[in-house]
Amino acid sequence: MIEKKHTRIKKDIVNIDYKDTLNFFDHRAEKYNNNNPYTVTMYQDSHPELVQERNRAETDKLLPLLRLDEQSRVLDLACGIGRWSDAVPTEIREYCGIDFSEKLIDIARERNHKPNRCFYVGDAVRFRDVLTEHDKGKYSRFLLIGLLMYINDDDVMSIMRQLLETADRQSIICIREPLGIDERLTLKGFYSEELQTDYYAVYRTRDELMDIFEKTLLQEGFQISQSGFLFSGEALNNRNETAQYYFVLERGWEESRGQK
Ligand SMILES: C[S@@+](CC[C@H](N)C(=O)[O-])C[C@H]1O[C@@H](n2cnc3c(N)ncnc32)[C@H](O)[C@@H]1O
Repeated sequence: MIEKKHTRIKKDIVNIDYKDTLNFFDHRAEKYNNNNPYTVTMYQDSHPELVQERNRAETDKLLPLLRLDEQSRVLDLACGIGRWSDAVPTEIREYCGIDFSEKLIDIARERNHKPNRCFYVGDAVRFRDVLTEHDKGKYSRFLLIGLLMYINDDDVMSIMRQLLETADRQSIICIREPLGIDERLTLKGFYSEELQTDYYAVYRTRDELMDIFEKTLLQEGFQISQSGFLFSGEALNNRNETAQYYFVLERGWEESRGQK
């Protein structure tokens, strides 16, 4: 029997294998429970009330920053079971969620009956192709909520470039990620007691994410309008080395403000 290496890598850049990640999320989908739906992608299996509190705190904070209106077309990359579709009001033009776990997308479709919503199975690393396959075009709001931690560096750059090809001139991109607070941390087949399984993720530092934005989105007119730690209370932040952080990047709003 080949002994499996359980690793936890600090600082160094090490790629994770997406097959492991997909396998992980397909197993999470099997744990889906209608009474506590968000646990499936927010974890904390033994703290259902914390999941609800975090979901509320996150959507209360980030939803207003999206400035949604009836013209908004929202693309939710790595939508999971459509947690954010629940938060996004019906009075928008379109919401599209993409996730590579067919099992999660099946749940998303079953749960979501609001109009103008679609959910597609597809890899976020080639989301432009997924949109083209479904005759979809441009979007004005983008959600990347807990996605980049599952994506290797080269592919993160590719996702940023695809965002630029897909974004309307006037757009808002919301990125929410757990940061490695002092240094980059990669979990590659690391056994998580909490999840009772091996786990794969990359926790980048804020500087690393800023460097990515500087080389891509910020060169094409986007500016960071808001950023910060998501949760303020200690009860909501129960990890030491990582913490949830958000960036809101926008472009094209000066013109509309100027017209008023
Ligand atoms: C932490 S969950 C977040 C789900 C959702 N955004 C939310 O906030 O509830 C991460 C999601 O990323 C998806 N995912 C990871 N890698 C992906 C990839 N390469 N392409 C598409 N989806 C991916 C997983 O299937 C999972 O649904």
